[in-house]
Amino acid sequence: MSEANGVQSATQGDALENLLQENRKFAPSEEFAANAVVQANVYAEANADRPAFWAKQARELLTWDENFTQALDWSDAPFAKWFVGGTLNAAYNALDRHVENGLGDRVAIYFEGEPGDTRTYTYAQLTEEVKKAANAFESLGVAKGDRVAVYLPMIPEAVITMLACARIGAIHSVVFGGFSADALRSRIDDAEAKLVVTADGTYRRGKPSPLKNAVDAALEAEGHSVANVVVVKRNGEPIDWHEGRDQWWHDAVESASAEHTPVPHDAEHPLFILYTSGTTGKPKGILHTTGGFLAQSAFTHKATFDLHPETDVYWCTADIGWVTGHTYVTYAPLINGATQLMYEGTPDSPHQGRWWELVEKYKVSIMYTAPTAIRTMMKWGEDIPAKYDLSSIRVLGSVGEPINPEAWMWYRRVIGGDKAPIVDTWWQTETGAHMIAPMPGVTATKPGSAQVAVPGIAVDVVDELGQPVPNGHGGYLVVREPWPAMLRGIWGDPERYKDTYWSRFENMYFAGDGAKKDDDGDIWLLGRVDDVMNVSGHRLSTTEIESALVSHPSVAEAAVVGAADETTGEAVVAFVILRGNAAQDEEIVTTLRNHVGKEIGPIAKPRQILVVPELPKTRSGKIMRRLLKDIAEGREAGDASTLADNTVMQQIATSLKG
Ligand code: WTA
Repeated sequence: MSEANGVQSATQGDALENLLQENRKFAPSEEFAANAVVQANVYAEANADRPAFWAKQARELLTWDENFTQALDWSDAPFAKWFVGGTLNAAYNALDRHVENGLGDRVAIYFEGEPGDTRTYTYAQLTEEVKKAANAFESLGVAKGDRVAVYLPMIPEAVITMLACARIGAIHSVVFGGFSADALRSRIDDAEAKLVVTADGTYRRGKPSPLKNAVDAALEAEGHSVANVVVVKRNGEPIDWHEGRDQWWHDAVESASAEHTPVPHDAEHPLFILYTSGTTGKPKGILHTTGGFLAQSAFTHKATFDLHPETDVYWCTADIGWVTGHTYVTYAPLINGATQLMYEGTPDSPHQGRWWELVEKYKVSIMYTAPTAIRTMMKWGEDIPAKYDLSSIRVLGSVGEPINPEAWMWYRRVIGGDKAPIVDTWWQTETGAHMIAPMPGVTATKPGSAQVAVPGIAVDVVDELGQPVPNGHGGYLVVREPWPAMLRGIWGDPERYKDTYWSRFENMYFAGDGAKKDDDGDIWLLGRVDDVMNVSGHRLSTTEIESALVSHPSVAEAAVVGAADETTGEAVVAFVILRGNAAQDEEIVTTLRNHVGKEIGPIAKPRQILVVPELPKTRSGKIMRRLLKDIAEGREAGDASTLADNTVMQQIATSLKG
């Protein structure tokens, strides 16, 4: 753990102080509580026997081909097996069974493209599309266990592709469209993907934005595993074509047969890999399997959002490229037979009221978004949402980073009409589904706190030695018992899985987040305690960006910190030492920002790059990021007495002034 980001860092201390003064509470209305899907007794039931509780959920919420014989096998800890012996098909559970149950005409997805084009898929129609895609992928030689890379915008084909993979037992690896060709290639290589599904491009703020060209660039160098690229025609812009390798979606999928029998897969059959930043340079391929992931996803979606699938219209604004898009766009809503809205574009195109216009148009009743978006909307002004009828909204969700009480209150008052409960959901790519969240019909919510473990989940806050902290104290967030949607490992690297999550404390999952228990025992999340930054709810690794910077010929050394940012939560600030022969002009900063964009993706571009003569290091050569964070956040640098060279901070200060 880096000393730079220890639990007691200055910013966290400040945040803590502010949070401690927060004592507002909002109980659910009597009417809401009476009609809630989940009632208070759920906690006692779940805590009495957690595996039995999850087994009950798995049986109620999923349709199994072969019933499981054991809820949990933890004999090979930390490698869990849930629902042992059971078999099921994820796509059948998300689609066919609803059609068989007479819900074929229910809308599964309302799609709204950025330019304003719309499509509606009923459950029957979506089932047919997924069957066709499954046939098309199979005819391209994709079989059970093969990996498929997905590099698509927020269009229905993304969901269709993921479910078609699940149907045939192929493992999807979705790569966020904001990642560069290089990042895409390293993920394709790590998973040895056989097929890539992409689109010519998408739209961003009214302009076409390309995607396929990044796939071409990624596959330019020989030695990759990809046999075919399937391309959805989305924005119609011209693209290069590789005869024999590339196939149009409309040729491959639309002409395929709409008959496809789903085969059951083992509960532990891999469902997907999703790469996420860790504390070292190389992204980790987080592996999720079928039965446990689906059970916890479906349960939490229903319970946390109080889902009434017959009447609700649900909208999660997350991109499919992140775990939130996996669990709470592709899988859980469809498993639960919900109707959801999917929107392709940016919130301010063509105007800053676009989201609220969509809420009004589709009568969205459950909305799930990120604090960074809420803060942006706050900045735009509340007169914008005020122009629209948001009265359909009855539950609001938040995810991705701690939500500050001001943003929470604004969300509740301006978007939720002062009555919709806010559920702040803490979880991670690794946890697969919600882990800490209020139950909207039960919990009296507190602005800024995720509060309580989800029923059936055992979280705790512990000190350095792994002892639970008393109420009123802070420490490290851990999970004490295995949970159904937990990651099953890191693709191709079981040792890294054990080291990263299970070695810090004995028999506990180490999440990498700092947290505090308040006087009621409710949990407040305080941000990462490792070298992972959270920019607009997206995880970025300091070391990964540092590696990208030093791969540029002008850079001798680099240090990256996350600095507090009003809108994005944290922002990337880089300190670089240039090589002796590198030109020290204005352009270097632009060059380096673009270089990071090329190596990782635009989302990783530093907000600021500061050229400095030296970096503060301890005698053992470790960069003291804490001191750099002070500078990045405009504070007087803190205690520098452990520096190998105590003039360094002075040198940096002088060079930044000059
Ligand atoms: C942070 C996103 C506070 C946290 C689902 C975690 C949060 C990381 C919250 C996981 C929240 C997510 N309150 N912090 N409600 N939700 N985080 O893997 O630091 O992209 O470890 O998963 O985001 O990010 P990931």
